[in-house]
Amino acid sequence: MARVFSGIQPSGGMHLGNLLGALRSWVAYQHEHDAVYCVVDLHALTTAPDPGELRDNTVAAATMLFSAGIDPDRSTLFVQSALSEHAELAWMLECTVGFGELRRMTQFKDKSDRSEFVSAGLFAYPALQASDILLYDTDLVPVGDDQRQHVELCRDIAERFNRRYGDTFTMPAHAIPETGARVMDLQNPGDKMSKSLESSGTVGVLEEPESVTRKFKRAVTDSDNEVRYDPATKPGVSNLLGILASSTGRSPRAVAGDYTRYGPLKADTADAVNELLAPIRERYAELSSDPGEITRLLSTGADKAREVAAATLERARDNAGLIPRSPT
Ligand code: TYM
Repeated sequence: MARVFSGIQPSGGMHLGNLLGALRSWVAYQHEHDAVYCVVDLHALTTAPDPGELRDNTVAAATMLFSAGIDPDRSTLFVQSALSEHAELAWMLECTVGFGELRRMTQFKDKSDRSEFVSAGLFAYPALQASDILLYDTDLVPVGDDQRQHVELCRDIAERFNRRYGDTFTMPAHAIPETGARVMDLQNPGDKMSKSLESSGTVGVLEEPESVTRKFKRAVTDSDNEVRYDPATKPGVSNLLGILASSTGRSPRAVAGDYTRYGPLKADTADAVNELLAPIRERYAELSSDPGEITRLLSTGADKAREVAAATLERARDNAGLIPRSPT
């Protein structure tokens, strides 16, 4: 069975972009693939979150993933820092990736432009992400469009390591959905939807239906009053069409044919999104009443993940010439 791996940062409250760009395909993949998913708390450390918040957000992110449909009997879900293998292999990959390659990452450029303090960890972030992926002999990485460049760099890193030290890693490929891969901010449709921008253009997965409807009603469109899918010249309207299409399993161009005015398009998009979010919100309320059960499931997931990760790390260490930890 082909293996799928993906990760999400525990940075407080998931949004519609995370759900449509990534989580929904994670849920779909677990039925016919060996699925491994991870809450990447070490990645979150790159921006020095408050420790109490990081702790709460890590459990909340896992609760959200289970609520969105990740089934602990089908998927392996764990927290990245539970396995020291991730940080250890990341170091070996930092010694494999070039400074220039990391400097070209657009996410690093965006994030470092917005931060006063830029940690070395933020710069090396893609090497840790490559470590996550490569430890599990991953075939497919389901992600939104903004992670495309990181997965491509992971392939370059794997290729260089394999060339230098002999066949060690499986070559992964990204799996980016046709619709929903780039959900844009409802107020600034030129920017992707993101929680760190704290805009009223972000829709949270746990947001109340009235608030979701209000945000869609106020979504920025344009003044030509023509419903047409054209992200370059009509980003606001195209974003609504993309969200409605992705929520209902259709194509944005087919959806556009159903509308002549913006009002009904906004109302129907809000309804479709609320329909998608309602069961997740309900399940979240149930599961979050028992955080002990969530941490227990995460610990079982970590035990399963460690079996694969430890073997890959051992292979990488050995191929690179690090002597065994203990005599055999
Ligand atoms: P993160 O936590 O920012 O986002 C998690 C997933 O959500 C997708 N996503 C979006 N999709 C569509 N529209 C948007 N506006 C939007 N915003 C976010 C992301 O593409 C991602 O799939 N570096 C990663 C986490 C990571 C990872 C990994 C992913 C660490 N290790 C290994 C894959 C494999 C990140 O910060 O995602």
